[in-house]
Amino acid sequence: MKNNTATVKRHSFLYRCLHWLIVTEMLLLLLSGLNLSEYLDFDFISRGASRNLHIVAGLAWISTTTFFLYYFIMSGEYKWFGLSKIGHAFDFFVHEAKNCIEGNKVKSPVAYGIKKKQYVEKVVPTAILAWWGWFGLWTVMAFTGLAILFPGNFNTINSLCHGILPSFGKAAAATRLIHMSASMAIVIYMFIHAYATWTFGLTGSMISGTREEPVVDPDREEFNPFARQGNGMRRTPAPFPKWDQGTPPPWKEAEEDDPSHPSV
Ligand code: HEM
Repeated sequence: MKNNTATVKRHSFLYRCLHWLIVTEMLLLLLSGLNLSEYLDFDFISRGASRNLHIVAGLAWISTTTFFLYYFIMSGEYKWFGLSKIGHAFDFFVHEAKNCIEGNKVKSPVAYGIKKKQYVEKVVPTAILAWWGWFGLWTVMAFTGLAILFPGNFNTINSLCHGILPSFGKAAAATRLIHMSASMAIVIYMFIHAYATWTFGLTGSMISGTREEPVVDPDREEFNPFARQGNGMRRTPAPFPKWDQGTPPPWKEAEEDDPSHPSV
């Protein structure tokens, strides 16, 4: 531990392997998909080869992401990204946007408790919005991809896409356009994700697994952020669930009271 920070294990080996495997599969899908598109003019390998590559990579990607989601929930990682936190994450996003316009730095609520050897808060709340965005895009890509591949089995998806784009003569054509448009959204999202993780200094930990994290005051750490308030102790900087109880959001308190708290 040095200067109120400690080197902490942030991501397990399996988590990192799954992350980079998904990235590789998505890049392969993107390249082979662009090669297949009739709307876009990218031809670097034959159509047959790119189609085979796309289908194999697509099915592998669906398996990897399904296992990743299972691991994400079972390993406890999901608790930092849960649906119930979206409202607060949105508040933080507005707070970040306001400060960005005013030219102020926003304090990160990420903090680690050395006594209990666990995170008090693991993610910058905007990452919660990013995660659900990925989840939405993955769902669209997987279901529209399967509907193009197995139209008989995924007829509902084709009908749904046709409902969204009724001007198309064939439902399959509407599904293909939605699949292609979502893949373009993925390209934009990938750039934003790479830029944001880089600026927040999070890229290294997805390679090494560890990160130098700010440590909370051990006396405040005892206060379990997920327990009910009522023992008169001050909150640690980042207890999400208690924001519901009329207390100011933790980042505000952290900014006002905790000069040692890190900036992002
Ligand atoms: C990140 C994930 C994915 C990306 C970026 C992606 C991208 C693309 C793109 C750009 C096209 C061309 C669309 C057009 O303009 O017609 C395409 C076509 C296609 N995709 Fe995907 N895709 C992904 C996942 C999947 C998955 C999971 C499957 C299903 C296993 C799949 C199956 C297909 C099929 C069957 C086609 C049409 C191939 C043909 O023309 O015969 N895709 N994809």
